[in-house]
Amino acid sequence: MQIQFHPGSDHDAVCDLLAVPVFEGETGAGSAFEALDRATGGIAGTVLASGEFKTELHKTCLIHRPQGLQARALLLIGAGRRQESNPARLRELAGTAVRRARSAACRSAAFRIPAGFPHGEAFRVAAEGALYADFEPDSYKTRDRPTHDVESLLLYAEDKADARAAGEAIARGTVIGEAVNFARSLVNEPANVLTPAEFVRRAIAAGTPAGLEAEVLERADLERLGMNAILAVSRGSDEPPKLLILRLGAARNDAGKDAPPCALVGKGVTFDSGGISIKPSEKMEEMKADMAGGAAVLGAMLALARLGPARPVIGVIPLVENLPSGKATKPGDIVKTYLGKTVEIINTDAEGRLILADALAYARTLGAGRLIDIATLTGACVIALGNVNAGMMGTDQETMDLLRRNCAVTGERLWQLPLDSEYRKALDSDIADMKNVGQRWGGAIVAAKFLQEFVEETPWVHLDIAGMDLDTEGKPYAAKGATGFGVRTLVQLLA
Ligand code: BES
Ligand code: MN
Ligand code: ZN
Repeated sequence: MQIQFHPGSDHDAVCDLLAVPVFEGETGAGSAFEALDRATGGIAGTVLASGEFKTELHKTCLIHRPQGLQARALLLIGAGRRQESNPARLRELAGTAVRRARSAACRSAAFRIPAGFPHGEAFRVAAEGALYADFEPDSYKTRDRPTHDVESLLLYAEDKADARAAGEAIARGTVIGEAVNFARSLVNEPANVLTPAEFVRRAIAAGTPAGLEAEVLERADLERLGMNAILAVSRGSDEPPKLLILRLGAARNDAGKDAPPCALVGKGVTFDSGGISIKPSEKMEEMKADMAGGAAVLGAMLALARLGPARPVIGVIPLVENLPSGKATKPGDIVKTYLGKTVEIINTDAEGRLILADALAYARTLGAGRLIDIATLTGACVIALGNVNAGMMGTDQETMDLLRRNCAVTGERLWQLPLDSEYRKALDSDIADMKNVGQRWGGAIVAAKFLQEFVEETPWVHLDIAGMDLDTEGKPYAAKGATGFGVRTLVQLLA
């Protein structure tokens, strides 16, 4: 999709569909809605009065051949209450416009950014939302593709906008939107296609032209380095494990040159069967998405590379497949991790924390001054927070406060859970330094306490995105399937 700034207004946007968000209660005298009503010879007011159009969030009304406009159709979109509005909502409204355009078989559309949003941000998030909405996971359908992509989108502002600033914001939004969709496309891939090796190939294919440097530690390297936690998880699989390390090119990695880099560590389990502690078969197919944290790190690094100078960042993505076999790790097995601490593996389905343990410890040896990990780590986090908020835990309160404030812009909601030292007791082992699981209660926190053993004193944030990686229902502004959760959060923090 081509996204361009439209310097004009409603009536001179030439397109198949013109989309206009309308806030609740902003339809009376002097409103932009009233002006649109006048321009269209009273059509807008008529569908509002009849009740066919409602200003509730994401309700839409499509009007064909409106008079007074160059557009072939007019789409009114309910924008809800202005007081509850924020950049995240604006992103979704632009998305609803694009998905409605898709379903109405429109190839070109225009979207009006309501007055009152700072343009630098508004044009960016609208572009992000448009790309997000135009994504359809239909690459494996050989027939019955339900809709077509929107080819071009014009973005314009209700109030006057500076063309250069708007163009720059759209370019940034396009970079971020494409990075999010890249992450989504990886998460949607089935595990027979997206193996650890294939993840690495795609990371290199996309990353090299963007200016990312990639280094891959192979099984022999992991053996030599003693990354036995990663090796233990991958033992049951015929797919060799990989540890992917990504670096921004020097020129793009220098906004705070003197500061030690921040490491982004993403869980990359390309399929999680549970291993010998095998999962029930219901919904097991969703475990192809257990590399969503790794995909978010890769997506964010791609965007950061494209956006120009960013703070120094390294990406670390441990990639494995967790399967049962005659070689698989068994409950009760003990491994010595890269850091040297020993772990009694009680449950082979608690594999994410094992691979992250080695990856986090390794990231510190690369000089990371700050650690952020992102992982589909625990079902317990889904029980606690559902699929509305990701769980956030850690020791770097300043970064966590900033991440939380950014939610209104990114639309990726995070909720902090506690990390009191008492939770650590659940991991005491009779025979090793720790077990990899405790009791059921507080499972998301206990998992984080396990990770904390491997970050030691380095400031650290852990994002548990289990439940956020897939949207099984779909939204007015998004297709079902992978969400790309985390890409925007990480880019907003580090760009
Ligand atoms: N990948 C799962 C967590 C998960 C569950 C992600 C649901 C997305 C949706 C993780 O590896 C796992 O299996 N965790 C176990 C841990 C338990 C054995 C302590 C869980 O949550 O059941
Ligand atoms: Mn598991
Ligand atoms: Zn898992």
